[in-house]
Amino acid sequence: MSDRSYRFTHAVTRRPSASIIRGLRAVDTGNPDLALMQRHHADYIAALKAAGAEVIELEALDAYPDSVFVEDTALCLPQGAVIMRPGAPSRLGEAAEMAPVLERLYSTVRRIEGEDSFIEGGDILVTEREILVGRSARTNAEGVAELARLVADWGHKVRELHTPPGVLHFKTDCSLMDAETVLSTDRLAASGCFRDYRVIPVAAGEEASANAIRFNDSLLFPAGFPRTRDRLVDAGYAVTEIGNSECAKIDGGMSCLSLRFTPS
Ligand code: GLY
Repeated sequence: MSDRSYRFTHAVTRRPSASIIRGLRAVDTGNPDLALMQRHHADYIAALKAAGAEVIELEALDAYPDSVFVEDTALCLPQGAVIMRPGAPSRLGEAAEMAPVLERLYSTVRRIEGEDSFIEGGDILVTEREILVGRSARTNAEGVAELARLVADWGHKVRELHTPPGVLHFKTDCSLMDAETVLSTDRLAASGCFRDYRVIPVAAGEEASANAIRFNDSLLFPAGFPRTRDRLVDAGYAVTEIGNSECAKIDGGMSCLSLRFTPS
């Protein structure tokens, strides 16, 4: 089994902007503290570097409050990158900001272009054998279909699924741990979408820890979820905990904060 879904050489991040206080959120639990978010972001970048990443750190974009969540702007695959069309109107312009960055790194960059197509990277889980895409309030059937057409000649099979109701993104509730294993909430796994994978369940009450990232031999995991962390450590993963309290206030997690890839 190959390991291209979690072994990478590069990551792209974007610094949080002061406009982060206007970041989208499902439930208002208070504004993120920018200074604390910046410290967490620095820890996150240090952890990626320690895992072997060359990290391209982009400047903050004041015009886009949610632009620290770069994952939603593109899908990076071994054969090339695909620029997304975010379904949140305030985020649509973020994708165009990412395109030239990826064009410098990849020889092939494709785009979701259909006027009716919407898709965000947070709804996409790439495994060794398939690309799982959850339809959500941000990702529609047209977006999934256009992505499937764009990556077919690269040999990728797209499987369309449904993000649980009330959950922002598909990957809010799951993460790839290795070629055979996902971390998942029970509410998502109950749909049967991971029946061909080994599933490590997130501990009850710790659903907010389902979004983590495997990068080479490291697992970046949000701090504050000890029972799920212990399950991952017991399963043999090298867990690095990163503070996520401020991103969590605007529904962001570990995967949202970077694009991870090996340029081609
Ligand atoms: N605040 C992250 C998002 O709604 O996209």
